Amino acid sequence: MENQLNILVIGSGGREHALVNKCLESPICKKVIAAPGNGGMAQLIECFPTSVEDIPGIVALAKSQSIDFVIVGPEVPLCLGLVDALADENILAYGPKKDGAELESSKTFCKNFFKKYKIPTAEYQSFTAVEPALDYLKSHPAPIVVKASGLAAGKGVIIAQTNKEAEDAVRSMILDKTFGESGSEIVIEECLVGEEVSIHAIVSGETFLCLSPSQDHKRIGEGDTGLNTGGMGAYAPTSALSKEMQVVIEKTILLPTIHGLIAEGIQYNGTLYAGLMLTESGPKILEYNVRFGDPETQVLLPLVEDDFVQLLYTSARNLPLPAEINLSSDKCMTVVIASDGYPGAYPKGEPINMPEVLPENTQIIHAGTLLDSTDQILSNGGRVLTVTSRGDSIKETAQTIYSVCDSIDYKSKIFRRDIAHREIKRSN
Ligand code: AMP
Ligand code: GLY
Repeated sequence: MENQLNILVIGSGGREHALVNKCLESPICKKVIAAPGNGGMAQLIECFPTSVEDIPGIVALAKSQSIDFVIVGPEVPLCLGLVDALADENILAYGPKKDGAELESSKTFCKNFFKKYKIPTAEYQSFTAVEPALDYLKSHPAPIVVKASGLAAGKGVIIAQTNKEAEDAVRSMILDKTFGESGSEIVIEECLVGEEVSIHAIVSGETFLCLSPSQDHKRIGEGDTGLNTGGMGAYAPTSALSKEMQVVIEKTILLPTIHGLIAEGIQYNGTLYAGLMLTESGPKILEYNVRFGDPETQVLLPLVEDDFVQLLYTSARNLPLPAEINLSSDKCMTVVIASDGYPGAYPKGEPINMPEVLPENTQIIHAGTLLDSTDQILSNGGRVLTVTSRGDSIKETAQTIYSVCDSIDYKSKIFRRDIAHREIKRSN
C-alpha cells in the first residue's frame, strides 16, 4: 500500500492547501496534483486551471493524469454530482454523491430530514410564496431567522432582530431574488441562543470518526461584529464542548443522521460537518455541511496523528473506519489574513512578502493567492492566507500566530486580533 496513489485535490482555498499538505506527508501518496489550486499549492505541486464547477473537465483531468483518488474540497462540485461522475468512470473520490450532498444544497431537505429522524434543531417552516411566509411571521415575532434554502456561500442567513427586518428579508429573497434561485424557497426558523461550535465527522456508511470539536469566527470584525464571512479564524479543540456533551451530540445528532441516511437509501461517504448551538435545552443542530470547513480544516488536520489520507481513502471505498482516531492533545489555532473590503469588494494582485523562517509547528497556508511568472506571490482573493500554529497553550499559540501575522507584508492586509477570545478567557 506504500506510495500507491496518484491523488487529485479539488479546490483553491486554505482548506485544500491543508489537504495537500496532508497528502504530501501520507505514506500512501505517490503523487498529488490540484485543480485549480493557488499560489501556495503551486509552490509545492503541479496545479491545473480546471474550475471546480467543470465536472466533465475534472473527470477528463483525472483520467489524463492517471488519478486513483480525488479529494473534493468545496461543496459546489459535490452538489453538482462530481463524485457520481467520477464513479461512472471507476475513479474513487472522497465526498458524498449528489443525493447525500443535498443535506447542504437544500436547507429545506435538511430540516425535513431533521424532523423525520427526530434530530434536535430550531423549529421551522419552509415557504415558496411571500404571503404565507408573512402570515407565519405574525405568529412568530422577531428575533427570528430567515434563510435562503439553496447554496449562498454562507451569506443567505438573516438573523432578524425586528419584525420589519424579517419581512424585508422574506420579500428580498423571494421577490427580489437577492440570492438568485437559492432563495426561491426559504426557511424561517426559531432563533437559537447559545455558544456555537462545530463537529466534523468522517463518515463511511455506518461508521464515523469525529475530529476535534472546533470554533469558527464568522464575523469580519473583532468582538464578533460586522458582516458574516466564510470564517476569519478558528481553533480546536474547544473546551466549550465537554467530552460528555460530545457523547450526547454523537448519540442524539450524528448517529440518528447516519441511520436516517441509510433509511433514505443514501450511501454516505465523506464529511459531515455539524454546525451546532449549545442551548439551555441541550445541543441543537443549525445545519450540515457535506465537506470540511474553511478555516476549520487548517486547525483540525494538524491534530490528526493517524494517516489522514488513509482515513479518507477508507471512506471512499465504503470500508469500515477504525474504532478510534488518534488526536493530539495540543491546541491548534489559525488566523485568516484577508484583503481590506472583504466580504465586499477588495483589491487583488498585490505582492506579498512573507517571513523566511517560521516558529516551530507554524505554517502559512495559502487561500486566495497566485504565483506569478517571476515566482512572486500575489493576493488573488478575499481570504488570502491563514497562519496556523499549535502548542499546549492557546494563549502562547495565539502570540506565536500574531507575531507571524505582523511580519507578513502587503498593502491591504487585515486580520482579526481576537481569534479564540472565548477559549483564552476560559483558560485564564
Ligand atoms: P448557517 O449557514 O445555517 O450555518 O447559518 C450561518 C450562521 O447564522 C450560523 O453560523 C449561526 O451563527 C447563525 N444562525 C443560523 N441559524 C440560526 C438560528 N436558528 N439561530 C441563531 N443563529 C443562527
Ligand atoms: N467556516 C465555515 C464553513 O466552512 O462553512
